[in-house]
Amino acid sequence: MFSKETYKDRREALKKSVGSGVLLFLGNEEVGMNYADNTYRFRQDSTFLYFFGLDYAGLAAVIDIDNDKEIIFGNELTIDDIVWMGTQPTLKEKAFSVGIVETQPLNSLKDYIEKAMAKGQTIHHLPVYRAEHTVIHSLIGKVTEASIPFIKGVVNLRNYKTAEEIVELERACDVTADMHIAAIKTARVGMKEYEVAAALEAVAQANGCFVSFPTIATVNGQTLHNHYHGNTIKEGDMVLIDAGAETAMGYCGDMSSTICAGKTFSSRQKEIYDIQVASHLAAVQALKPGVRFSDVYDLSCRVICEGLKGLGIMKGDPAEAVAAGAHAMFFPCGLGHMMGLDVHDMENLGEVWVGYDGQPKSTQFGRKSLRLARPLEPGFVLTIEPGIYFIPELIDLWRSEGRFKDFINYDKVETYKDFSGLRNEEDYLITETGARRLGKKIPLTTEEVEALR
Ligand code: GLY
Ligand code: MN
Repeated sequence: MFSKETYKDRREALKKSVGSGVLLFLGNEEVGMNYADNTYRFRQDSTFLYFFGLDYAGLAAVIDIDNDKEIIFGNELTIDDIVWMGTQPTLKEKAFSVGIVETQPLNSLKDYIEKAMAKGQTIHHLPVYRAEHTVIHSLIGKVTEASIPFIKGVVNLRNYKTAEEIVELERACDVTADMHIAAIKTARVGMKEYEVAAALEAVAQANGCFVSFPTIATVNGQTLHNHYHGNTIKEGDMVLIDAGAETAMGYCGDMSSTICAGKTFSSRQKEIYDIQVASHLAAVQALKPGVRFSDVYDLSCRVICEGLKGLGIMKGDPAEAVAAGAHAMFFPCGLGHMMGLDVHDMENLGEVWVGYDGQPKSTQFGRKSLRLARPLEPGFVLTIEPGIYFIPELIDLWRSEGRFKDFINYDKVETYKDFSGLRNEEDYLITETGARRLGKKIPLTTEEVEALR
């Protein structure tokens, strides 16, 4: 945990930004996987962690701005809890550690909210993303929309990482890089994908971390979020690894690498890989305050189109191809996203507020998956992860619909249907003058990968 001053300062800033009313925070509960007592790993709600720092299940909190009160709601452990799960600090001790003196039992929360409503106070809550959070609606007595001032207040703090957060993020990224380097050194022809996944997850655990999202380690990199690990790695395959560490405090890393199954890449793989690297480097070089991330995305897409045109896979003007959306055949996702206490930071609060500053998102295929578009500012932490994918079903669909025939050479694309896909991903902090990579370097080019194989 950070010092209690950090949490107090964050709450003060939030109170100032929302101005009035009651802010309601629901922490997370334990969740049963297949029966109640066999739980998933507990993960606290990130906004609760950010403002209250308490990594325990079964807590809620209220900031009553109108009456200048901060209250943690929760229950003391029973002797049965202690016998089975061990002891914890008392609720008072937990609250005190983050600068809060008032605590109440969890079942008093409803009464508190009802009284506040009876006095005409506004109750602000955040979007619901877990079933147990719908209790908000029974607390308030009706189904209500999440509070935009509350969302904006949280986003306007959490988007700007402080020096102490950057230390945590850098540690998450260092462990993440070590996970990738271990996987790159481990993977061999004949292994199962799950052996590669195991090698990198062991590094997270050995460093006191968790994984920040389900590990991707696949020979079918054309599937963007491929969580299947049962294939055997064959000579000629590429293995796409997308994995990250989450520190004990909840800060995340997220990197991707694509490696050759054997000692070297084929010349066909190298040609596509080099285009992806060029796109990646162009995006990184463009990062600085004031630059719209949507423009960085456009740039990365143009570089991919130019490269694919050079191989005869695309044709026409790359800028026109990108404007029309033809690039999305090969790059159907975003270029990157904010990263912090969530690997896709605050995605539960809405990308429009986090990554678009309230502006509407595009509905164009590919571009609609861009999670970040706003002008960059110092303190933002984000990923850069362009990729090139050959998705047979998408190729067949667009070909059958005659889409973008002016930009896509379908006869040539047919010959790449067995290519799979590749991506490399790094994490960056936007500084006053540009950007700084977070964490150790992982191999980015084919030469750098081959040197570790
Ligand atoms: N690393 C997974 C993602 O960014 O979607
Ligand atoms: Mn990512």
